[in-house]
Amino acid sequence: MCGIVAFKGDQNKTSKVIFDGLKLLEYRGYDSCGIGVIDENKIKAFKWKGRVRKTEKRFNETKIKSSIAVGHTRWATHGEPNDINAHPIISFHKEFAVVHNGIIENYKELKKVLSEKGYKFYTETDTEILVNFIELCVSNSNNIDKGISYALSRLEGAFGIVLIKKSDPEIMYAARKGSPLAFGKKGKNFFIASDATPIIEYTKKIIYLDNGQLLKINKNEFEVLDFELNKVPKKFKKVDVELQKVELGNYETYMLKEIMKQPDSLSQTMLGRIKDDKITLGGIQSYTKPLLNTKRIIIIGCGTSWHAGLVAEYFFEKYLKVPVEVEYASEFRYRFPIINEGDVVFVISQSGETADTLEATRIAKKKGAVVLGIVNAVGSSIARLTDEGCYLHAGPEIGVASTKAFTSQLMVLLMIGVKAAFLKKNISEKKYHKMISELKRIPNKIKEVLKSEKEIKKISKKIFKKNHSLFLGRGNNFPVALEGALKLKEISYIHAEGYPAAEMKHGPIALIDKEMPVIVICTKSDEYDKMISNIREVGSRNAIVIGVIDKENEHVKDYLDFSIIVPSTSKDFTPIINQIPLQLLAYHCAVLRGCDVDKPRNLAKSVTVE
Ligand code: G6P
Repeated sequence: MCGIVAFKGDQNKTSKVIFDGLKLLEYRGYDSCGIGVIDENKIKAFKWKGRVRKTEKRFNETKIKSSIAVGHTRWATHGEPNDINAHPIISFHKEFAVVHNGIIENYKELKKVLSEKGYKFYTETDTEILVNFIELCVSNSNNIDKGISYALSRLEGAFGIVLIKKSDPEIMYAARKGSPLAFGKKGKNFFIASDATPIIEYTKKIIYLDNGQLLKINKNEFEVLDFELNKVPKKFKKVDVELQKVELGNYETYMLKEIMKQPDSLSQTMLGRIKDDKITLGGIQSYTKPLLNTKRIIIIGCGTSWHAGLVAEYFFEKYLKVPVEVEYASEFRYRFPIINEGDVVFVISQSGETADTLEATRIAKKKGAVVLGIVNAVGSSIARLTDEGCYLHAGPEIGVASTKAFTSQLMVLLMIGVKAAFLKKNISEKKYHKMISELKRIPNKIKEVLKSEKEIKKISKKIFKKNHSLFLGRGNNFPVALEGALKLKEISYIHAEGYPAAEMKHGPIALIDKEMPVIVICTKSDEYDKMISNIREVGSRNAIVIGVIDKENEHVKDYLDFSIIVPSTSKDFTPIINQIPLQLLAYHCAVLRGCDVDKPRNLAKSVTVE
């Protein structure tokens, strides 16, 4: 994983470009951070465990000015997150430094080759093998381009790398196989980064390297080559991405802000799409026919985005009346998936950069499916690769645990579902308008839920010291239970499991005792009475039962230790409202446990390695 920023140009700009850029890329990992420069004819690396700000402060204290630099924010894959394993990694003979995003799969074989040549290793990373192998190949071939080209052709796995060379401080290489790299040039300043955001402050004209491409910057010139060193014609393209600086305002954390602002983010998601009691989804309009005629829908995502897909499965099967499969991207890509002509695939991703989802998108396209994206990050890799799609317009999500992106994903999927159901004549015009009116009421209903924050905080105080928890839901609220459990475990580190309420009898019930908080989602639904029975089953085993219930059914309180009352909505739309109190519950438990909610340990906002 990891984020890369590299710069060559005005030495007064170097530190700002690198560190401002790395801060924008912390969503890709933040366990350690480093910068490598050429100074006094040496490559010097400044790198520490911890966040970008720490490295920035320490590097700026050195007062070093360099017109060439590579920067990196890491999410450890090989080797624990510590100062030594942080990037950049300098080669054994100190000729090269590299920053790397990805995983080198044949590192063991290459390490053997290097060991035989006398190389010693001081980190636990695959990146050290990579940079040493490049060094060896360059010294063997006596030609830097040929050496790099040979080395790259021998590397297996995924990589986005930027390389600098001690004895030639005017030269910089970037190469991509799998892990994205964007490139920009403004006058004599050259910028390379894992996505375009660190660059667009300086130029909006971007070249995205494709797989198997090598960028060479030499003095004030650059060229794009393939790994066999053939020139590849590439043109800068203007990107439409705006840098949205996100301030915390009066909130203590981004996550809390993102939870509390969901009425606004959802209104943004609907803006221009629900108008005059009609749904218009310009982004996927040209694929209306395939969507209405399809015999099968496949929804692909990871983490929270996968949960959004599960909610859609209930809605789509009920109203579009086509079979829906929801797949983890990581399973889909290795499962020899069968795609039939006419299949429609939705890929869901907040960041648009998740490696498995990106690869699954490629596979689905290659197999001939219509692939539609539901993505938040404008101009991201997945957004660019899909045939068409609907952006979430939820605004940048900074907190690692996804909140507002999830509810916006649900909103987009529901809008697609409602519109398609109407066009397929599976619902009447009256029902279509009724559903639209109800969707429009959701932001205000969420405002009401958010007023219960204090109440939810009190409930959190009763459970935050527990080590385990269970979340139960049925039907379209089963994914809500999964997502509620994911939020709690991600940010508070309390072990949490989400289960379909009835399945609880087949195992998890054995865990229930008076120490176990069981969070039940019991708002209006077709399985409502059955859910009550499940609540009684856990209650009679002395669990601490916390229920999300709706105003119409307040009497369920009698079976609960604590209740969170939410406004009623249509059965089909309850997930979007019911998720809110679970986000707040997770948030307050994590704060009470003293956790860093915006940047939980071991996690990253976007998982860019498989
Ligand atoms: C990471 C994030 C999750 C997110 C998942 C999928 O695990 O921490 O919040 O749900 O990746 O990310 P995507 O950007 O593809 O939605």
